[in-house]
Amino acid sequence: MPTNLKSHCDLASFSVNIKKLQHDSDWLLQECNVQDYNVNILLVNDPEIQALNKRYRDKNKPTNVLSFPFADGADESLQHLPVKELGDIIISVESALRESLEYGQTFQERMTWLVVHGMLHLLGYDHERSRKAEKIMFSKEKELLGKLNQNRRIKMAKLAINVDHVATIREARGIMEPDPVTAAAICELAGASGIVIHLREDRRHIQDRDVYLLRETIKTKMNLEMGANKEIIQIALDVQPDMVTLVPEKRAELTTEGGLDVVSQMKKIGKVINKMDKENIPVSIFADPDIKQLKAAKELGATFVELHTGRYCDALTEDEQAREFELIAVAAEEAVNMGLRVNAGHGLNYQNTEPIACLETIEELSIGHAIIAHSVFVGLDQAVKEMLAIVNRAEYALL
Ligand code: PXP
Repeated sequence: MPTNLKSHCDLASFSVNIKKLQHDSDWLLQECNVQDYNVNILLVNDPEIQALNKRYRDKNKPTNVLSFPFADGADESLQHLPVKELGDIIISVESALRESLEYGQTFQERMTWLVVHGMLHLLGYDHERSRKAEKIMFSKEKELLGKLNQNRRIKMAKLAINVDHVATIREARGIMEPDPVTAAAICELAGASGIVIHLREDRRHIQDRDVYLLRETIKTKMNLEMGANKEIIQIALDVQPDMVTLVPEKRAELTTEGGLDVVSQMKKIGKVINKMDKENIPVSIFADPDIKQLKAAKELGATFVELHTGRYCDALTEDEQAREFELIAVAAEEAVNMGLRVNAGHGLNYQNTEPIACLETIEELSIGHAIIAHSVFVGLDQAVKEMLAIVNRAEYALL
């Protein structure tokens, strides 16, 4: 096995697909023409990497990655090495987690970046040597990461979590808890890539205070779901979320019941998109997997569509579910071909998410009810991690 990957940490609480990391590292060895060589990757915590950093680099602080070439200073062709060993890459998972939050990456993406970075150091690249060496290393890094993603055809599907249901419980009592702001922070710490909230006209769950506070506290990406309502549009323009998702809203419904009918409201929806455009807020349209609606969304200048997965999730028979799945798969393909970016959500749970996450056209899943419901029994952190494991597993199935 060219990549020997070991961990000194308990990885249960980190959302990382180790097989994929190993696969990425093997691919890198091949791409860099050193597939006959072995490389050791060791995952450690901050204190362990700090001790190594102090001992070998005289720097008494944790760092993200350390590379120890088997034969430091060997000629770059590696021809005279007595054994086919490239060396060791040590990665601190704690530093990687902090950085993934800081840079808005998934933990897996950060870990992949660190493997690429560490591998290039083993191959003689060194960004600390000079400005020129830095440029060469970073451009190689970019090239390899680009190829890795191309090789895989897509980036990993991301998981955005809707915390409306936490606010629903709070509102049932009309008191201060549980707080969706706290819930959002826990979701992010557990590895979510974004937080979704729906500010409804009737304020049945999320309140204005939540929206403003969450704008201050969300570290990943804030997706504000909303109807095309004048007052809510004004709040969105004021709050400046990272994106908005336009949904149909009826007062009597329990939850959003279907996709937005863009075709019959071109003027109204077009106006909202224009307003958001002026503030550089990307718009997503929550749409049924219906090509007419997707074309209309594209015509109006939406950046994303979020495909409504509700009918697929509610299907009562396997045949019906397969038919609904096919509609989503085809619609996602068509949307991407039109130049739209595609998200999906509604009704996804621990049983039905994996096939949707396997669709290489879908960037992000928006999931709320299933995760919050499960969290009642296992805790929110665990509920998020279990869903992330499903999404990560799906990505590995694509390789
Ligand atoms: N996407 C949209 C547009 C929604 O309105 C909702 C429900 O608030 C979701 C996703 C999440 O659905 P669920 O709570 O069933 O996971």
